[in-house]
Amino acid sequence: MALKLVNLSKRFGGVTASADVNMTVPRGTITGLIGPNGAGKTTIINMITGMMDVSGGQILLEDRDITRAAPDDICRAGLARTFQNIRILPENSVLDNILIGFHRHEHCSTLSALFGLPASRQETQAIRDKARSLLTQFGMSAYADYPAGGLSYGHQRKVEMMRALASEPDYMLLDEPIAGMNDVESDILAELFQHLAEAGKGILLIEHNIRFVSKLCEKIYVLDGGRLIAEGPPAQALRDPAVIAAYIGGSDA
Ligand SMILES: Nc1ncnc2c1ncn2[C@@H]1O[C@H](COP(=O)(O)OP(=O)(O)OP(=O)(O)O)[C@@H](O)[C@H]1O
Ligand SMILES: [Mg+2]
Repeated sequence: MALKLVNLSKRFGGVTASADVNMTVPRGTITGLIGPNGAGKTTIINMITGMMDVSGGQILLEDRDITRAAPDDICRAGLARTFQNIRILPENSVLDNILIGFHRHEHCSTLSALFGLPASRQETQAIRDKARSLLTQFGMSAYADYPAGGLSYGHQRKVEMMRALASEPDYMLLDEPIAGMNDVESDILAELFQHLAEAGKGILLIEHNIRFVSKLCEKIYVLDGGRLIAEGPPAQALRDPAVIAAYIGGSDA
């Protein structure tokens, strides 16, 4: 079972942000996507999640073609993402921001929710309990009632991850999840990502921190100028002369 990209392409006028990209993100492992600034990494996640039209190619989610599906349908199909440029409701509490993620599993009718009928109350309580357990998992219980916008970037990223996990996705697409975190925080997240993968989720990890990627990923893909220039186990792909040249030639060395 996997998320597959087949010859995925994206052009912005004269700029080719993605050129015939073929990738597989299997469940149960962490797959890395690296490359210098502007290589086209975020564009890949934007296309997978339906936030950006594709110019060519296909996106297959466990053999279902989701290439032109709407973002809501893609979320319901079991895909969740986090954003490189954090997107949270800054004025709302951390808990409220997480509760938004449960939207996919809200089964109550609007009426029963409006009048607080028992089924709805039960479900609301169950959802709140799940949100609290996510907060515990991420070591963020103390911040449940804080306005999310007042937190450090590292903590705001965790809020996004909890919101993504609240939808109980089969696949998580993480765009630079440890940017702004110290080593202690990123080590905790490394363990968490490993647990999520062991539990059967497929994880696509975009990250500039090579040490982090190498530690976690079974396989990595390397993009440069929208093209895949290498793929394989980190130790092997990172030794590829094309990868070394891309990093030395770019601003990211
Ligand atoms: N909405 C857009 N409109 C026009 N060009 C875009 C758009 N989004 C991305 N691009 C261009 O596509 C290319 C790839 O951008 P992308 O953001 O995917 O790179 P990235 O690998 O995520 O870079 P970074 O490491 O800096 O986040 C860049 O040349 C960028 O300017
Ligand atoms: Mg990016």
